[in-house]
Amino acid sequence: MESRKVFVLFIIIFSLHLTNANGKFKKYNKMFKKFEAKSAKSSQPNILFILSDDHGYRDVGYHGSLFDTPVLDEMAAKGVKLENYYVQPICSPTRSQLLTGRYQIHTGLQHAVLQPTAPACLPTDEITLAQKMKEAGYATHMIGKWHMGFYEEACLPNNRGFDTYLGLLLGGGYHFTHSFPTPQYYDFHKDCSAAKEYNGTYSTYAMTDRAIDIINNQDGDKPFFMYLAYQAPHAPLEVPEQYKDPYRSTFKDDDNRLTYAGMVSCLDEGVGNVTAALKAKGLYDNTVIIFSSDNGGSIQDGGNNWPLRGCKLSMFEGGMRAIGFVHSPLLSDNVKGTVSNELYHVSDWFPTFVEGIAGWNTDGTKPLDGFNQWESIRDGTASCRTELLHNIDPLWVVPGGRDWVRELSPFNISINAALRHGDWKIVTGDNGETGWIAPPDTGYETIPGPTTDQVTWLFNVTGDPLEQNDLSCERPDILAWMLKKLQKYYLDSVPVIYPPTQVLNADPCINGNDCVWGPWTPIN
Ligand SMILES: *[C@@H]1O[C@H](CO)[C@@H](O)[C@H](O)[C@H]1NC(C)=O
Ligand SMILES: *[C@@H]1O[C@H](CO)[C@@H](O)[C@H](O)[C@H]1NC(C)=O
Repeated sequence: MESRKVFVLFIIIFSLHLTNANGKFKKYNKMFKKFEAKSAKSSQPNILFILSDDHGYRDVGYHGSLFDTPVLDEMAAKGVKLENYYVQPICSPTRSQLLTGRYQIHTGLQHAVLQPTAPACLPTDEITLAQKMKEAGYATHMIGKWHMGFYEEACLPNNRGFDTYLGLLLGGGYHFTHSFPTPQYYDFHKDCSAAKEYNGTYSTYAMTDRAIDIINNQDGDKPFFMYLAYQAPHAPLEVPEQYKDPYRSTFKDDDNRLTYAGMVSCLDEGVGNVTAALKAKGLYDNTVIIFSSDNGGSIQDGGNNWPLRGCKLSMFEGGMRAIGFVHSPLLSDNVKGTVSNELYHVSDWFPTFVEGIAGWNTDGTKPLDGFNQWESIRDGTASCRTELLHNIDPLWVVPGGRDWVRELSPFNISINAALRHGDWKIVTGDNGETGWIAPPDTGYETIPGPTTDQVTWLFNVTGDPLEQNDLSCERPDILAWMLKKLQKYYLDSVPVIYPPTQVLNADPCINGNDCVWGPWTPIN
């Protein structure tokens, strides 16, 4: 009996102790979790994503340009150069995929660029990269060219996830007067209001200074995501004169190329200044810097993509194979100073930043086409991507094509489209420039594209990055297989958003917007 009593007492005391310990444990657990959340947060790296505009593949020192880009060269040389990295062949499409992580066939922005006078913008039911970064605890800043539409308030950068914005809403404009198409039509904004104090300040200076200002005023604990979308070296070709001086004899016969060279030099200096500000503020060690061009160079506007085929607007490599590198002390030592030939795409940055770098999730987004490539880039492991739909634009259709290809194809080869799978790439439809345009003053000779009505090409892009050997006839099996894949993507596309322009309603000198481009009221 006695021992039983002792046993019961023991049980009671023991359970009391357990409850107490459990309570204590819970408390410790809670404290620990709090600590964990705090330390995860404060270790989240800053992200600086720099996008240059119409910057040709050739037009960086390390790809052989005749002008110097010492900053970009050094940052790329100490980081990882992405040499199998793609963007889209024009401005809005690249930006839309960066901000949504989704192909254009899934957002409706398959066709051309967003026009300032059309009632269209990046669909507001898409969750943007900035929204997710904000959710992950980041301050989000956008500087530079938006080009994602602005006809409604809801389309503006501050309403698409950016805490702050300074820049132009249109696809381009004068670099000193921040205007388009004439000096009285102003397009430079601080958040949602016109920033007329920038009239006269060269775009690259204005954007660089803003980036430095944000860095200098950074709250120590909160990580930031900065999207710095420089307007240079996009036309109109303008730059402070001193940037041309070193190249006056190199490009004495080509004023476009001369000014363009100056624009890239100034951009290079700007990137150097921003990086120096990160270092001075002590933020550099915990920042990942990504540099990317937005599409191929435009030949008539001074750009060049040699030795690649085609240029801006084309789905040959010259239109889409980008200048890209990642520079950060956070990269593994084994990848610093290397070249990556892994397949990456601009749509990959969304999950790469949100999941890979910020350690957050992509919940709430529509299905992403991009992959989280952070481990692959940081550690030099294989890319998660084997296939890349470059685009299908059903509003860009041309006649022509070889009968035997039409017969074997389930896909309408008149449509402008391109798809990559592993080493293989298929291109269909009209792709504009089909030749190889030599850079001026180098002694190389331009090779014109064939003048046939050919509208399909099949390349082994790994073995033949210059796209010199169309393998359609040798490998009709692969051709047919790729066309079948294209048709599958085509059937999975959403309708194209490309409403007609409403020039007078949008015109800010007519619609009461005081000649400042901004939201306007469309008429249905
Ligand atoms: C900007 O400055 C230019 C040159 O001084 C002037 O012509 C233009 O009207 C100004 N733009 C605005 C919006 O004030
Ligand atoms: C970079 O900083 C230097 C030194 O302050 C300055 O002279 C130059 O104008 C800056 N360049 C750009 C593009 O901001």
